[in-house]
Amino acid sequence: MTMKKNVNRVALIGAGSVGSSYAFALLNQAIAEELVIIDLNEDKAMGDAMDLNHGKVFAPSPTKTWYGNYEDCKDADIVCISAGANQKPGETRLDLVQKNLAIFESIVSSVMESGFNGIFLVATNPVDILTYATWKFSGLPKERVIGSGTILDSGRFRFLLGEYFDVAPGNVHANIIGEHGDTELPVWSHATIGGVPISEMIERYPEYKSEDLDEIFTNVRDAAYQIIEKKGATYYGIAMGMARITRAILYNENSILTVSAYLDGEYGADDVYIGVPAVLNREGIRNVVEVSLNEKEQEQFDHSARVLKDVLKKAEW
Ligand SMILES: NC(=O)c1ccc[n+]([C@@H]2O[C@H](COP(=O)([O-])OP(=O)(O)OC[C@H]3O[C@@H](n4cnc5c(N)ncnc54)[C@H](O)[C@@H]3O)[C@@H](O)[C@H]2O)c1
Repeated sequence: MTMKKNVNRVALIGAGSVGSSYAFALLNQAIAEELVIIDLNEDKAMGDAMDLNHGKVFAPSPTKTWYGNYEDCKDADIVCISAGANQKPGETRLDLVQKNLAIFESIVSSVMESGFNGIFLVATNPVDILTYATWKFSGLPKERVIGSGTILDSGRFRFLLGEYFDVAPGNVHANIIGEHGDTELPVWSHATIGGVPISEMIERYPEYKSEDLDEIFTNVRDAAYQIIEKKGATYYGIAMGMARITRAILYNENSILTVSAYLDGEYGADDVYIGVPAVLNREGIRNVVEVSLNEKEQEQFDHSARVLKDVLKKAEW
């Protein structure tokens, strides 16, 4: 008789800038008990495992960390994929589709061959398209395939609004939804600062101006381009967002985070993975949270979903 495994294992595939930062965040926050790192570049995965193990004595608890292979995915609770090409200066996320689809077909089939029966968390771009591909390639239920979606964009949004209104980002409730990319949108109609709607803040206090809010959103949407221009890639923010999603799943939190979820009629869209608020727990996505959008937001969301569906239709599978 085999003993039931009672430790949480995360398998990370792709230990590049994003993957290594995620591994670092997992260890520092003691989110998983086991972390196995897999990469085409075995030396990189091996080097990362060694390096992380040397810091383990300083971590809140000793996450068992090693460099491994696809067989180790069998007992994983979460397989996180951050492997593949990233944006070069001037490239959009959607420019990466064909390159990364081919990589994903081989990665996901190798994971499934191991006997994996857990939850996929996808971060590689274009994340909404590759999450859909992971769902298709794996054959797992839609609830158990999750993309990082607009978690990072919402994090950027909350940070910049926090700076503007001079409150901690945790006291800002505001979401970016839609494609993690150029067609994403801010849900201004439900954005609040400590429970006060932002529209009311603008009316009440003359120092706050709606033009400034437009600029904040533009900076959120274009943040990746700005960072890539300056240092070649973005990774800390997304890695911390992925760690947050991992914690929500492994700790069975029922936390609401903006992730790429499969829509089956919600928000008037279907057969697409796209960034929306969703309740996350040990089962994956418990349900999508449907916020009532105003007319302009709904139009923007419809456009974003159409762009993604178009990419899915044109992609060579
Ligand atoms: N979702 C988000 O918000 C977000 C944010 C930042 C970056 N990203 C995306 O994350 C991805 C990774 O970015 P990065 O900066 O870490 O790139 P990187 O080039 O630093 O790392 C990619 C890693 O993937 C590995 N790899 C490539 N093909 C593989 C395969 N078939 N099997 C296993 N490993 C393989 C490479 O060896 C490399 O270590 C990119 O697609 C990037 O656009 C997403």
